[in-house]
Amino acid sequence: MGEAIRQPSAMYDFKPDETLAPAELYRQLGDAADALTTGESDGIANMANVAALIWEFVPRLNWAGFYRVVQNGTEKELVLGPFVGRPACIRIPFGQGVCGAAAATGETQLVEDVHAFPGHIACDAASQSEVVVPVMRDGEVLAIIDCDSPEAARFTREDARGLEALATLLSERI
Ligand code: SME
Repeated sequence: MGEAIRQPSAMYDFKPDETLAPAELYRQLGDAADALTTGESDGIANMANVAALIWEFVPRLNWAGFYRVVQNGTEKELVLGPFVGRPACIRIPFGQGVCGAAAATGETQLVEDVHAFPGHIACDAASQSEVVVPVMRDGEVLAIIDCDSPEAARFTREDARGLEALATLLSERI
């Protein structure tokens, strides 16, 4: 499968069963992400395909994608990367909002109610809950994966664990 889907004419057409238990859903998502990114050195292409896969696999989202850590003078900031959803804020300072908190601490942020999160940045007014997972390489945050949902408390520790496994897979591929 890995080779076939990198051919220009190849289709990768599937819709996962929405009733899958989270552990199985994230296992299948991880396998698909592994197949799509193995041997591909272009990080933008890999982030774009993984954002699309998250969107396909994880139900009840209104935004799924990446922000990349970019040096801006002496400061690091997050800059919008590949995503699926409505257009979003382009630059986020470290420490600001949910994404900035994940980037600044290197720790997953699981937020049941975004309106209660200090400094939350509302890119899409529909978002009610959010999970943000850092992608690390050599102890540094390289990017973050952000998923938003229009449902309050949509994300659990199982979602966080599944996305953390995906982040580990992507550490050397973005
Ligand atoms: N809500 C995020 C900003 C990014 S968007 O939701 C796509 C935050 O507070 O960091």
